[in-house]
Amino acid sequence: MIKINQNYLKLPGGYLFPEIGRRVRAFENPSKPLIRLGIGDVTRPLAPAVIEAMHKAVEEMGHKDTFRGYCEETCGAYDFLRFAIRDDYLRRGVDIADDEIFVSDGAKSDCGNIGDILDADNVVAVCDPVYPVYVDTSAMAGRAGEYNGTHWTNLIYMPCTAENDFIPELPERVPDIIYLCFPNNPTGAVATKEQLKLWVDYARSHGSLILYDGAYEAFISEPDIPHSIFEIEGAKECAIEFRSFSKTAGFTGTRCAYTVIPKALELGGGNLNAMWNRRQSTKFNGVPYVIQRAAEATLTEAGRAQTQETIRYYMNNAKVIRDGLSKAGLQVYGGVNAPYIWFRTPDGMDSWKFFDRLLYEACVVTTPGAGFGPSGEGYIRVTAFGDAEATYEAVERILSVM
Ligand code: MLT
Repeated sequence: MIKINQNYLKLPGGYLFPEIGRRVRAFENPSKPLIRLGIGDVTRPLAPAVIEAMHKAVEEMGHKDTFRGYCEETCGAYDFLRFAIRDDYLRRGVDIADDEIFVSDGAKSDCGNIGDILDADNVVAVCDPVYPVYVDTSAMAGRAGEYNGTHWTNLIYMPCTAENDFIPELPERVPDIIYLCFPNNPTGAVATKEQLKLWVDYARSHGSLILYDGAYEAFISEPDIPHSIFEIEGAKECAIEFRSFSKTAGFTGTRCAYTVIPKALELGGGNLNAMWNRRQSTKFNGVPYVIQRAAEATLTEAGRAQTQETIRYYMNNAKVIRDGLSKAGLQVYGGVNAPYIWFRTPDGMDSWKFFDRLLYEACVVTTPGAGFGPSGEGYIRVTAFGDAEATYEAVERILSVM
């Protein structure tokens, strides 16, 4: 008889954002139009250079001589895009070979799917609070143990709180797999080169693997903050990096991302680049040609200028939120090098309760910190990806209910 993956039955509730969507839909007859600053979904249109590249690529698909079927290049990634990504790394002095770059439909799927090439017995460490994908996919693979109502028994939780500036400390129990995300989702914190070097040295000395989520690197505004783990010496021997066009260039609905797996990454008796290549060429057919052309366009001179302008727009929203909430006396974090603002609920209110209050009284959708893990309790996350006018109004409304 069929046996199912029992690990799925251990998962509590639904995935965070659909759960928030469910609560929002259940809220009938709001007194004013809802303002959504919950899920980190972009709202600005794609850049003109991207649209132009897509039109051109669509046209190519309509002619016999330029039509494309399966992409036969590395795991369905065209050279033109991998070369453009390689050049993007080179701008920051990081030398990545084009066959170390794997293009995919999203950093979320890659962050989870990477577990396919790693043994189920590995011990996983996550920051707390954390992007729920790392936890849920570890649980699905049987790496998290049992859920006891607040924690998974086999995960190492690394608290990231205001007390440690939201930077995790090196854990005493040594993990095999370490998920790090900087700029951080949800806290908006960034790590310095010195802080990342500690992690790289720690991982190398224990034979651990760092899974580094760099999906928000384009939002870094301070000059000395590293954009890539590969800016740190030795990282190519212990780290995989995930990046995405979703937030950088407004591709949440367009779908394109990439993962960098150095060929030097020989761990646990295998070459992770070769293994991921084998996995992707078996289970994945690549990202559509039109979309890869669109992604390439974001890395042209015109595309860069246009996407930078959009990033400035969002980071201005971040400033509006930061300034507004801080002036009202709230403790506010993030929003300087990241599109997320993380603030403490007033009077230590429970974060789901404050979420409900903001939803029902202010008609503003946020994300409760507790949804990101036990140490997120007492915090709320809001995104800077909204419309500028709506963001001003959301801040006014949040303040009015306090
Ligand atoms: C978030 O809001 O945390 C992100 O948008 C979710 C995601 O990127 O999958």
